[in-house]
Amino acid sequence: MDISVKNQEMTTALANVIVLGIFEDDKVLSYKQQKIDKALKGLISNDLIKKEGFKGKFLDTVCIPTQLRIPSDKIMLVGLGKKKDFDCTKLRELCAKVIKQLDKSLNTKNVSMELLGLECGNFDAQACASAMTEGILISMYDYDKYKSKKTTAQIKKIRITTDDTKEEKLAKLGINNAKIVCSAMNFTKDLINEPAQTATPEAISQIAKNLSAESGLTFEVYNKKQLSEMNFNAFLAVGQGSEQEPKFIHLAYKPIKKAKKKIVLIGKGITFDSGGLDIKPANSMLTMKTDMSGCATVLGVIQAIAALKPDVEVHALSALCENMPSGKSYKQGDVLTAKNGKTIEVDNTDAEGRLTLADVLTYADELEADEVIDIATLTGACIVALGQNITGIMGNNSEMIKNIINIGKKSGETLWELPIFDDMQDMLKSDIADMRNTGSRFAGASVAGRFLQNFTKSKNWAHIDIAGTAFIDKPYKELNKGATGVMVRTLTNYIMSL
Ligand code: BES
Ligand code: MN
Ligand code: ZN
Repeated sequence: MDISVKNQEMTTALANVIVLGIFEDDKVLSYKQQKIDKALKGLISNDLIKKEGFKGKFLDTVCIPTQLRIPSDKIMLVGLGKKKDFDCTKLRELCAKVIKQLDKSLNTKNVSMELLGLECGNFDAQACASAMTEGILISMYDYDKYKSKKTTAQIKKIRITTDDTKEEKLAKLGINNAKIVCSAMNFTKDLINEPAQTATPEAISQIAKNLSAESGLTFEVYNKKQLSEMNFNAFLAVGQGSEQEPKFIHLAYKPIKKAKKKIVLIGKGITFDSGGLDIKPANSMLTMKTDMSGCATVLGVIQAIAALKPDVEVHALSALCENMPSGKSYKQGDVLTAKNGKTIEVDNTDAEGRLTLADVLTYADELEADEVIDIATLTGACIVALGQNITGIMGNNSEMIKNIINIGKKSGETLWELPIFDDMQDMLKSDIADMRNTGSRFAGASVAGRFLQNFTKSKNWAHIDIAGTAFIDKPYKELNKGATGVMVRTLTNYIMSL
């Protein structure tokens, strides 16, 4: 699907459908819309608004033939709701709905859309075109790799039209940025949706290597023997029950100019989480191929960053392994010495993510970054607390967390801060080691965060829990069910904002 901006008046557009937005509180059509209405001999004002009673309620749509009064075949009016409530989040959702609807209607290959809702004044043409492009591209994602019958979109061309050269320039920027971020999201979603059978630590490290070659990133991969020498003992314990060899990958983007900041991203990379000897019930195991979503996210972000080229140095790290029960598995009661020397008594082999992240956080210390952000499908408790559409965030720097939350809001992704208190460490007390890997069943997401804090020296550390949001079983706004690519947008935009 080709999306671009075109400098033209809508009345001259040669498309199957032209799409116009109407606000609920609009008493009169906008100047541009009046022009189109005139060319249509009152089709909008008289037939659609007066006779059909179209009110402009958010997500309402009507579509009618133009009766050859202008070159395009049909006109679609979409409701934008109240002006004061309209924002980019609404716009993404709306465009997703519109494009899905149009793609199903007969003979629709070319679509022209105005910069929808721009006149509300809540955002500029760049943000508008970017949100429209995101809504369209995100909603058109489909994982059909293993289906005999592939889905192809009927719509081939979308023109976002404006007759203002300044808006045209801004829209072009918005569309290009959105395309980069959406292709990174698709890459992330494909990785998450891929079965654990093929998305092994070895295979994902090969994909990361290919990505680095294509994007001009540096790449290093470490095998079991090397990791053992590097003291990744907590990580290796998690992977030791599996037939798959664990891998640790380190990608880096370095700007040509002197970097303003150095950021480390860490993604949880459990390619399958059976729970280990604390085996999960069958139902909970069903989606555990997605337990490497954090890894897929940081790979997506660094792909986007390589294309957007900010003056920020970005590292993407992930420790990849499977958590499996076997005669070689790590066991309840085992004591592991993490890379930073702290000892951990294994209380539950299903709390494996934090063990793998612990060693990577310690490795990250050596990079002496300005900020460290880890992202993980870490706790069921986070899903209980926030559901499938809100991502949990916590850490040791409230300013940094606030900034990420705000960027998330603009990016169409909701994050909510959960607390970490020092005395939560008491819940992790062990009789024989420095700590255990789990607490009680209370405050699970926060206690997991408290555990991680033992392994970073960074003063600017944030932990993002995407257990609920990485993979959803019901569509939400522009997102289809399945892998969401959540946090690719937020983290990319956050790095671009530094
Ligand atoms: N990968 C899971 C968390 C998870 C659950 C992700 C559901 C996505 C959907 C994690 O490794 C896990 O098993 N966590 C345990 C921790 C517990 C044993 C303290 C959990 O949340 O039940
Ligand atoms: Mn687990
Ligand atoms: Zn897990």
